[in-house]
Amino acid sequence: MLVLGIETSCDETSAAVVRDGREILSNVVASQIALHRPYGGVVPELASRHHLEVIDTIIAESLNEAGVRLDDIEGVAATCGPGLASSLLIGLTAGKAIALARNLPFIGINHLEAHLVSPWLSARRNFEPNVSLIVSGGHTILVHARAVGDHTVLGQTLDDAAGEAFDKVAKLLGLGYPGGPEIEKYARDGNANAISLPRGKLHDPDLDFSFSGLKTAVLYWLRKQSSAESGESSAGNFRVLPAGSRLSALDSRLLPDFCASFQQAVVEVLVGKTVAAARACRVRAVTVSGGVACNTALRDQLAAACQRHHIELLVAGRKLCTDNAGMIAGLAFHKLRTGLRSPMDLDAQPNLRLA
Ligand code: KG4
Ligand code: ZN
Repeated sequence: MLVLGIETSCDETSAAVVRDGREILSNVVASQIALHRPYGGVVPELASRHHLEVIDTIIAESLNEAGVRLDDIEGVAATCGPGLASSLLIGLTAGKAIALARNLPFIGINHLEAHLVSPWLSARRNFEPNVSLIVSGGHTILVHARAVGDHTVLGQTLDDAAGEAFDKVAKLLGLGYPGGPEIEKYARDGNANAISLPRGKLHDPDLDFSFSGLKTAVLYWLRKQSSAESGESSAGNFRVLPAGSRLSALDSRLLPDFCASFQQAVVEVLVGKTVAAARACRVRAVTVSGGVACNTALRDQLAAACQRHHIELLVAGRKLCTDNAGMIAGLAFHKLRTGLRSPMDLDAQPNLRLA
């Protein structure tokens, strides 16, 4: 079955053609990062306007690249939530319109459930049962996945998502948006043990996460350095930065150590909790997806920890980690083939959860 998938939940306009939930014939992603960069984050109005401007072209490109015509498509899927309401509406409406005009089966897809199956697209096989870590800018969730549509949420962040923590700390440092890749870039040359930062909830018995304490610790640490400098005292490596202003002047010599220490604090918690979840559920496989799963330190440390515990690890390929329509079409196949359909009055659901 050839499925056309559409994804516009946040700041990526994407369309993909996937055969039988496995074979990605095309996965076109138009990123809006440059559009939002000057604002340090996604501006919803700009995002939806841009989705509207490019959606037809992106869909046409995905068909072209796949070497198929609309006549060949046998099912249509679009993200219906969670995400930005005005962004979701663009892709969802485009998908419904195509399905209606072509009399094709249509299904609305939960973006988080699509992240969950994205590692399977890389491996071209299922890894069930497994424990899956979804770690992105909006979510940090641990899931026990038994089969498509059969999963239990084991834990999630109580405050900031891991990607959000990367983005916020990068903003404090005056680095670019999105913050994850920026911090990773500097962290490569740094000492991860240079600065002691908290590992929120790492040793708690539950499987929830909390990153707001880490963010606050970073803020206080930077401020302390700044005030030390304002008194022209000890550190001497930071410029004076009043509370609330951007701590953009971290000395370039300290930036790598700082970024490496911050990254390590996040990675250690993600790895520790994921392995704890796998052991608690007695599964032999772990899968990982979402934008933060692009992070090499996370990938490497998860691989080492899983090896130690004899757990098979499957991390989605980098292109499938960040938002893309391939994962939407991939999941849609599994739903459509069991006869599941969404009604044409399906609305965008900005707060949709992973049930
Ligand atoms: O999955 P995604 O594209 O969008 C959401 O659904 O949120 O994830 C984007 C998030 C951003 O917070 C970004 O900073 C983070 O993923 N990210 C990274 C890296 N690449 C992207 N975080 C850490 N290291 C990276 N290399
Ligand atoms: Zn996402």
